[in-house]
Amino acid sequence: MSFRLQPAPPARPNRCQLFGPGSRPALFEKMAASAADVINLDLEDSVAPSDKDAARANIIAAINSVDWGTKTLSVRINGLDTPWWYRDVVDLLEQAGPRLDQIMIPKVGCAADVYAVDALVTAVERAKGRQKPIAFEIIIESAAGIAHVEEIAASSPRLQAMSLGAADFAASMGMQTTGIGGTQENYYMLREGAKHWSDPWHWAQAAIVAACRTHGVLPVDGPFGDFSDDEGFRAQALRSATLGMVGKWAIHPKQVALANEVFTPSDAAVADARAILAAMEEAKANGQGATTYKGKLIDIASMKQAEVIVKQYELIMGG
Ligand code: COA
Ligand code: MG
Repeated sequence: MSFRLQPAPPARPNRCQLFGPGSRPALFEKMAASAADVINLDLEDSVAPSDKDAARANIIAAINSVDWGTKTLSVRINGLDTPWWYRDVVDLLEQAGPRLDQIMIPKVGCAADVYAVDALVTAVERAKGRQKPIAFEIIIESAAGIAHVEEIAASSPRLQAMSLGAADFAASMGMQTTGIGGTQENYYMLREGAKHWSDPWHWAQAAIVAACRTHGVLPVDGPFGDFSDDEGFRAQALRSATLGMVGKWAIHPKQVALANEVFTPSDAAVADARAILAAMEEAKANGQGATTYKGKLIDIASMKQAEVIVKQYELIMGG
């Protein structure tokens, strides 16, 4: 480790973020009853411009009246390039009551975007004597966002999580795609005439994970649009988990169980990690820094890898 230690991210489960449009209040009770760790009530792109005011009012009423249990409750505001975002922030902060945990800022392109929202939120919190500071989460979904991802990760002590938004990201990058996340038909390698599909999201995901881990922020994979394709969702989520992301969005309730399953370390993975820790404790007791486990080298770094899995499991199990 560098002299500067890596900060721990917020210690809360974030395996699945379930989205629902603020203009469909009939969904809110169903969202609250779901198994998602985080609820995202949307004011942005799932709400038509003519519905923005009504959606805001629906969300404010529901924050106060629906029983959200122990879930992290977040509202996605409109982007800073719109005429709606300041009203989203002011009305939420003035009227929504203490149950609101978090605001999601979309399409963040630089640290100053977060600074601007922080300044407005801080002023309203002070004016209203709000006791619980609002946390932030942001979406990286533009060329500017990924180019400035590290300064964005460091932009505010309020920042808890950062998601990759595949669709807007692809559009901003000029990618020739239409699918939201997952395998893209034209992104393949050829070997002896056979196609092998590669992962066009890999670089952006790895950049987000590195920025988040450097600054103690939770890295999250965004939407997977084809909600009839469970195996496609699972494959995308497994890659994200392998790269260090802690969860994924659900844009339909059927994706919640899939995300929870993938981002909860399996019993076999936890047992294996615990066995590695035990083998290393034994090695250390014998004065060794390295030993053999199932025919493979394990050393101090293996303990750190194993601890990631065990700690994530214990966090999710509440232990
Ligand atoms: N949260 C909770 N429940 C939901 C839901 C959601 N986001 N979306 C649908 N449901 C419910 C439906 O009300 C229905 O309930 P019922 O069985 O009691 O009637 C059930 O799940 C099945 O819904 P289905 O008919 O398959 O979906 P739909 O046609 O009503 O809606 C979408 C499909 C994609 C339009 C809708 O899921 C949606 O708006 N998703 C979120 C979009 C969003 O927020 N995007 C922004 C982030 S990318
Ligand atoms: Mg988007």
